[in-house]
Amino acid sequence: MTTKLIMVTGASADSDIGLAICQQLAGDGYQLILVGRREEALQATQAQIPGEHIIAPMDLTALDDINGWMKSLCSEHGKLSGLVHSASYQGYSPLRGMKSKQIHQYFDTNVAAALMLTAAFSKPQHHTPPASIVHIGSVAGFKGLKGRSLYAASKAALMSITQSCALELADKQIRVNCVAPALVDGAKAQQQFAMLNPEQQQALKDEHPLGLVPPQRVAQAVAYLISDSASHISGHTLPVDGGYLIA
Ligand SMILES: NC(=O)c1ccc[n+]([C@@H]2O[C@H](COP(=O)([O-])OP(=O)(O)OC[C@H]3O[C@@H](n4cnc5c(N)ncnc54)[C@H](OP(=O)(O)O)[C@@H]3O)[C@@H](O)[C@H]2O)c1
Repeated sequence: MTTKLIMVTGASADSDIGLAICQQLAGDGYQLILVGRREEALQATQAQIPGEHIIAPMDLTALDDINGWMKSLCSEHGKLSGLVHSASYQGYSPLRGMKSKQIHQYFDTNVAAALMLTAAFSKPQHHTPPASIVHIGSVAGFKGLKGRSLYAASKAALMSITQSCALELADKQIRVNCVAPALVDGAKAQQQFAMLNPEQQQALKDEHPLGLVPPQRVAQAVAYLISDSASHISGHTLPVDGGYLIA
């Protein structure tokens, strides 16, 4: 059996979710194309996962270069069976002091790159059907966050793209889904807790009745949606949120 090739963006080792996705998919026997801007951070991921993978540094905000870049990767390494878009621009964007430049920062990486990657992936010369695309969204796409309107809007747009692209690509046997984590137990959570007093820290914990989300749980959801076991699931966003959306 030939090894299936999956592209993972945001695969840098210092992304808790990106690394967990790479560990899960490499452990499941896929060959990966590891994508991020910093080559050394991708090499650090390669060092922590089983098997030999392809390191493909790329700034995904170079939107018009995505198709040609994917074409050359597929010519060299073969067609893709899957794509996981985990790269993102994260941060705070309070309305006070909002600059139009910020809109591009969030939307280029989180939305426009997702669209350009999906468009490139869907070309017959770049994928082998049946194929699967999984975007990494956020609970922020379901429920607003104070001071983070741009991040939340970008993740809501990603959920919308997921639905429309799933419809448009169904006849090519490409499924498109999204996984929406709440706060993941890792570096981002530590940064957030460091800014809060003990009462605020407890309130943040209480928003996750099942606890903060281990990155491995996000990765397992991604692996399921990538696999043929999910052959009849498309256009959906699956929260992996420790109960955040029902709390
Ligand atoms: N962490 C959480 O608690 C949490 C919660 C909900 C949702 N999420 C979502 O889960 C995903 C992963 O989050 P994370 O916190 O683990 O990692 P992250 O800090 O968002 O990092 C993702 C990686 O994306 C890469 N990246 C960013 N901009 C890029 C660009 N223009 N081109 C190519 N690569 C780029 C970065 O690597 P380079 O610097 O090497 O390019 C970065 O390491 C994101 O989509 C995030 O929105 C995270």
